[in-house]
Amino acid sequence: MTTAHNRVAVLHGVNFDILDRRDPALYGGLSLNELEMRVKGWARELGLAPILFQTNSEGEFVGYLHRLPELADAALVNAGAWTHYSRAIADALEVAGLPTVEVHLSDVEAREDWRKVSVFDGLVLAKISGKGPEGYREALAALARELGLHDG
Ligand code: DQA
Repeated sequence: MTTAHNRVAVLHGVNFDILDRRDPALYGGLSLNELEMRVKGWARELGLAPILFQTNSEGEFVGYLHRLPELADAALVNAGAWTHYSRAIADALEVAGLPTVEVHLSDVEAREDWRKVSVFDGLVLAKISGKGPEGYREALAALARELGLHDG
């Protein structure tokens, strides 16, 4: 059973529904479902209860962030391209007020200049990029520590 303060929402934004059709050199060739299965396993090992969400609609993403404080205790966010320009999503994440880690499969710092900009700067505990799915495991461990569930 889910105990208090261990719910982590894992939020994917635009184009993650077609992750397995995107450049495997950048994104690894996994489907979103495969990535989410790994994330679920890692979360449970850490004592976290994962809640998974993906949408291609910016409005739906914002609406989900509005409900987030009732749904989760922490968040892992990979907002895809919205990361680089959606002030609306950043504002909604700020209002949600949950401990959040930003994750990117690819190394956004080593790609085009516009990808180096993140609207989540200053709002997140950490930004992890370029580590593929392993970055999600790191992010979950950081969130578990933040929630007082895990020392490692
Ligand atoms: C991404 C990086 C973004 O720049 C890009 O728009 C994505 C995926 C990543 O996980 O590497 O959609 O967030």
